[in-house]
Amino acid sequence: MPDPVAVADEERDEWVRQVVEQLYREYAPIAEGAPADYIPELANVEADRFAISVATTGGRQLAVGDRHHPFTIQSISKLLLYGLALETHGRDRVMQRVGVAPTGDSFNAIVLDEDDNRAPNPMVNAGAIAVTDLVVGDDLGARVEVVRALYERYLGRLPELDHEVWSSERETGNRNRAIAYLMLSRGIVDDRVEETLDLYFAQCSVLVTCDDLALIGATLANHGVHPSTGRQVVAPEVVRDMLSVALTCGMYDYAGEWVFTVGIPAKSGVGGGILGVLPGVGGLATFSPRLDEYGNSVRGVKVFEELSARFDLHLFDPDRPWRQAPPA
Ligand code: DON
Repeated sequence: MPDPVAVADEERDEWVRQVVEQLYREYAPIAEGAPADYIPELANVEADRFAISVATTGGRQLAVGDRHHPFTIQSISKLLLYGLALETHGRDRVMQRVGVAPTGDSFNAIVLDEDDNRAPNPMVNAGAIAVTDLVVGDDLGARVEVVRALYERYLGRLPELDHEVWSSERETGNRNRAIAYLMLSRGIVDDRVEETLDLYFAQCSVLVTCDDLALIGATLANHGVHPSTGRQVVAPEVVRDMLSVALTCGMYDYAGEWVFTVGIPAKSGVGGGILGVLPGVGGLATFSPRLDEYGNSVRGVKVFEELSARFDLHLFDPDRPWRQAPPA
């Protein structure tokens, strides 16, 4: 195996490309798991779509498979909205409503932190809805535009929403409604609950591609500076907080196993995406809508496990070479 520190960018890219293509071929036949169907419209996605995308902080990107195929971002939005809340309101105000403790419960558990009277963490639905409640604006339309503008900074374009998925979740999202009204009864969210739920469903229905997710990852890996636009999308101290909760809570009740085996701050969504961040190095993303019992993409988890092992990507890997700059 070549020494990743000693090789030039082109050689390294070629090496990564070969491994990524090999994993794509190896995992494409996996038919375990199924697309989410608790949001009826999500059951209509093409289950066997598959993409892997890698973007570096230096602006290089490579990908295989359906890299441009749009899908709904779903829970990966929770990470970006958490960053927005921290930037807009500061840590103290956000921490009053939402803690940072991993739950070990499912992402849609109806659980609050009874002692502190707040949602457990921003990566589960309760915490995410409490965070969405913090989006400023006089009405739904204005608040949707704030969220779209946030995405524009990360994506380099204003995103489209999947309106079928949005209305499908609005019509069937009673569990999220229950969570939101429980939080209203405890004074954790304001009384515009239906509007905030609608906004939350909208932020989840934003269409992205696997390449987009890798670039978002690269931006977070690059202290919040977008590798292509050069724009400071989010402040470095906010990125630190975002990545901390991604590492401990981003994969729901699989988070412990994920940190242990993969060791990459990451966030998954029931649309089939997983976004991973290699601080100082780049973003990694997968898209495959067949989900496991935790709501994480089956092929995606396998790709991350294998890439982490092959390239020593675990944050605490003693040999983690990718952290260092290649020699001049
Ligand atoms: O609120 C929901 O249930 C969905 N809009 C998002 C859930 C999600 O993506 C959880 N991910 N694994």
